[in-house]
Amino acid sequence: MNLILMGLPGAGKGTQAEKIVEKYDIPHISTGDMFRLAIKEGTELGKEAKAFMDKGELVPDEVTIGIVRERLSKPDCNKGFLLDGFPRTIAQAEALENLLNDMDASLDHVLHIDVPTDQLVERLTGRRICPTCGATYHVIYNPPKEEGVCDKDGSELIQREDDQPATVRKRLEVNVEQTQPMLDFYKEKGYLVSIDGDQDIDQVFKDLDEKLGGSS
Ligand code: AP5
Ligand code: ZN
Repeated sequence: MNLILMGLPGAGKGTQAEKIVEKYDIPHISTGDMFRLAIKEGTELGKEAKAFMDKGELVPDEVTIGIVRERLSKPDCNKGFLLDGFPRTIAQAEALENLLNDMDASLDHVLHIDVPTDQLVERLTGRRICPTCGATYHVIYNPPKEEGVCDKDGSELIQREDDQPATVRKRLEVNVEQTQPMLDFYKEKGYLVSIDGDQDIDQVFKDLDEKLGGSS
């Protein structure tokens, strides 16, 4: 199954992606995670991406398309993939069409998690992540069993650098502007499925899974 997961920052893409890839056994390709890993490893890509991410801006298309092209060429993508946070611009969407053509592949669904913008600031500023395994929590909506500690591996949870209130506002502004043309693009092609993301995490997954033909 070849899937795209769309949604504004904080809509729950990463949270739902963890569940989808586990159930459908496909690789999770998150451009945000790939950039964060490159920053952690101190690579050239990381240095370039960090300058944009710290300001809440998008990383330039050619850089982003390049890393997705490389990732999709790996053999594990032959069984399908879940793209999370890509494409985010029409140029990226068009580049993806070309990449899929070259792979003789096509999309199955574009899943859009729809959440009212006014809730996203609270979701992002309350988010905590595990630096070891990448698990995502929320201080109120999805707290770990022990405050500040990852359930899976006991690591101390941290806040993402771009989850500071001023950066959050900028990210939302940038992404709100980009989202509607992307929704129109995929709606026209008949791939778009919108899910109400303003429900608890398990219910959002049930709705997504139903659209994918599963029955969780
Ligand atoms: P990226 O990492 O993709 O960040 P984002 O799109 O801003 O999305 P987030 O990861 O912040 O949110 P999410 O939707 O995954 O929400 P989550 O599940 O964590 O990108 C980061 C940066 O990288 C960008 O700003 C840009 O600079 C760059 N970049 C990435 N891709 C790019 C591209 N294609 N082109 C150019 N630049 C790119 O949930 C959020 C919180 O809410 C969590 O605490 C969670 O526990 C909680 N939560 C989740 N679901 C629910 C629910 N149903 N109810 C209550 N709380 C919930
Ligand atoms: Zn962990």
